[in-house]
Amino acid sequence: MELSSLANPSVLSQPVYEPGKPIDDVARELGLDPSGIIKLASNENPFGPSPRALAAAHAALEHGQLYPDGGCYALRQRLAREWSLGPEQFVVGNGSNEILELVGHVFLRPGNEVVMGAPAFVVYKLVTLLFGARVVEVPLRDFAHDLDAMAAAVTERTKLVFVASPNNPTGTANTADDLVRFARGLPDHVVLVFDEAYAEYVDSAPDLRPLIAEGRKILCLRTFSKIHGLAALRVGYGYGSPELIRLLGRVRQPFNVNAIGQAAALAALDDAPFIAQCRHDNRAGMRQLEEGLARLGVPTVSSAANFLLAQVGDGAEAFAALQRRGVIVRPVASYGLPFYIRITVGTREQNERLLAELATWLGPRARGRVVT
Ligand SMILES: Cc1ncc(COP(=O)(O)O)c(C=O)c1O
Repeated sequence: MELSSLANPSVLSQPVYEPGKPIDDVARELGLDPSGIIKLASNENPFGPSPRALAAAHAALEHGQLYPDGGCYALRQRLAREWSLGPEQFVVGNGSNEILELVGHVFLRPGNEVVMGAPAFVVYKLVTLLFGARVVEVPLRDFAHDLDAMAAAVTERTKLVFVASPNNPTGTANTADDLVRFARGLPDHVVLVFDEAYAEYVDSAPDLRPLIAEGRKILCLRTFSKIHGLAALRVGYGYGSPELIRLLGRVRQPFNVNAIGQAAALAALDDAPFIAQCRHDNRAGMRQLEEGLARLGVPTVSSAANFLLAQVGDGAEAFAALQRRGVIVRPVASYGLPFYIRITVGTREQNERLLAELATWLGPRARGRVVT
C-alpha cells in the first residue's frame, strides 16, 4: 500500500511554502563565499536585533536547561502595558505564522470560506487549504486590498477574512479610516484577522482596539521578525478579546515560544530608540532604492513597508542572475507577478550592491547608469 494513500487527502494537495533562499544554501549551490552574499529576500531587518535584545537573549541562554514559561507571563504583561489592554488579551506564538495556523485550528472546517486579497501573504491560503476550507481570493486594485470588493465577497459561509496592511508582497497599505470602516462593516459571523507584520513602518496604522472593546471579532497580529530584527527567534503575538484569545490558547502547544525568544522580545520592546532608528534608516533605504531603480528605468510599486516590488521584466531571470552575483531577492511569479522581484530594503551598502548588480544584469536595457 502506498504510504500517501494513508495520508489525509488535503495534505496531498497542500501547496508547499517557499521561503526566501538562505545564504548558506545559495553559497553551497553556487560555490560562492557566504560572507560575500547578501539576502534581501525575506523582509528581515538589515540592522539586526537591538543590542538590548541580544544581551537579553545571551542571558536567557544561561538557563537553557529549563522549559520556557509556556504562558509567556512576563511578555504578555509587558505587551498589555504597551497596548493598554489586559494580559488575557494576548496570545504569543512561534512567529505570527503559528498564530495563523492556530486560527485555522479554532475556526476552519470543510465548507467554510475564507476571504483574502490576491496576491496576499501566501500562508493565509495555506492555512485555509490545510483545514479543508475554500479560498476566496479578491484581486487587489492598484496593488492594494480592494476592501469594498472583499466586503462584497463575504457570504453566510465566510468564517474568516485576512487583511494585511501593509500587504505582502506588494508593500501597499490601506488608509486607517478605510480599514476601520471595513472592520466595522463585517457581519457578526465573520472573524477578521488583521495582519500588522509591517505596521511599525507605517505612520498612521489603524487602531482596532476600540472595535475589539466593542465586542467585534477581530484578531490583530504582530511580529518580532520584522522591525525588531528577531526573525530567527520566532516570536509573534496576537491581540483580541479575552474569549478569542482563550480559544486560541486551547489549540496551542504547551511550550510553543522558546525562552530565548521571550527574553529578547521583552527587551526589544524596551528599546524604542532602536526602533525609531530602524524606521528612519528604512525610509532612507527605500528612497535610495526607489531613486536608484528609477535611474535604471525599473518601475516600482510605492511601498509603506521595508520591501518593494520592482518591475524588472523577467522576474525569474533577474532573481537567478542576481543570485549568481551573490544578491538574494524574492521571485514573485508564484504570487502572479512574473515581471517583478521583491526586494527587501537593506543597509545603504547592501542597497548600493543590489543596484549595481541589477545594472550589470540589465546592461544596455538600463535607461541610465547607476549613481551610487
Ligand atoms: C504579512 C506577513 N504576516 C506574517 C508573517 C510571518 O511572520 P513571522 O511568522 O516571522 O512572525 C510574514 C512574514 O514574512 C508576513 O509577511
